[in-house]
Amino acid sequence: MAAMAIKATTRRIPGRRRPYPALMQTPDVHTIEDLKTWAAAGRAAIDPKPILAVIGKPVAHSLSPQLHQAALDQFGIEGQYIRIEVEPGAVRQAFDLMAGLGFTGCNVTVPHKVEALQAVDEADTLAQRIGAVNTVLFQDDLKLGFNSDGPGLVRAIREEFSVDLKDLRVMILGAGGGAGRAAAVQCALENCERVVLVNRTTDKATDLAAELRTMLHGTPVLGPRSRIQALPLDPRKIEAQLDALDLVINATSVGLKPTDPPLLPAAILQPHLLVYDLIYKPARTRLLRDAAAAGCRGANGLSMLLHQGVVSFGHWFGDEPDPNPMRQALMDA
Ligand code: ATR
Repeated sequence: MAAMAIKATTRRIPGRRRPYPALMQTPDVHTIEDLKTWAAAGRAAIDPKPILAVIGKPVAHSLSPQLHQAALDQFGIEGQYIRIEVEPGAVRQAFDLMAGLGFTGCNVTVPHKVEALQAVDEADTLAQRIGAVNTVLFQDDLKLGFNSDGPGLVRAIREEFSVDLKDLRVMILGAGGGAGRAAAVQCALENCERVVLVNRTTDKATDLAAELRTMLHGTPVLGPRSRIQALPLDPRKIEAQLDALDLVINATSVGLKPTDPPLLPAAILQPHLLVYDLIYKPARTRLLRDAAAAGCRGANGLSMLLHQGVVSFGHWFGDEPDPNPMRQALMDA
């Protein structure tokens, strides 16, 4: 890309505290090649200077630039947050290049969160337990890894339902995927009374259940039931659990497409349940519509996206931003 083409032009948007770069208005995606040729291609002239990024593949859809720009603006930090498409296997190289260019840090999204754990110099305990890194801080020649997904979920559940995750009995649909694993580990660390792990490929849920039992405090069984239980994605087996659960989390990708079949039969949903769908686009999945029809309270994953961002920002800059302008930025986007 030619230097002139990428030089950020600015325009005033009413209500913005400072010029907003045109780069942020379009789903602009950078590449590893861009990072390698940054200065030679004139990218050092980009104003505000990119200091944060999200790496993933695909990454064009990510709302993280809008989310974090609202946080940067709050603190008056000159800099912008960009998207970088990175191929599997190139995560460490991407970190090295960003660190060399003076980036503060980055977020890591699908499919790189597990690779990122191997690519950082150090990871905190939570990231190690989740087995994935979604936030990296470049500090003193070190790449430090964190995971803000679990803490983001805790805050999202508190915000949406005015209850604490630790006080809920939880079923996680799709516990075998990356997002489901993060939610499940967080539930175990919160010492939830019960965690039921549901997965289409049952072995993944069974293996995770064994791992999570080691993270619980206190008794691993309650009455006749194990506090952590694995189940296949079988409606009858799921239905048999629901009367003794409070929260159902969808961490599968089912619902992303309008044509997706229902994940669960609507008839098994009960009105006492809270239903949290990690999917936020579409805003109301089939599961959330069925839950509302059954009298359940439900919410989508926009609040988790918001709060994981707040926690990530705290890792980068020490202070956490006010979530409200960030929420507004997500809604605008
Ligand atoms: P990841 O989050 O690791 O990228 P994914 O492929 O997006 O993984 O899948 C996330 C979760 O959605 C997994 O638990 C997956 O179940 P499997 O482990 O059995 O693959 C689940 N999932 C994906 N498609 C599904 C479907 N059509 N029905 C039920 N579960 C599904």
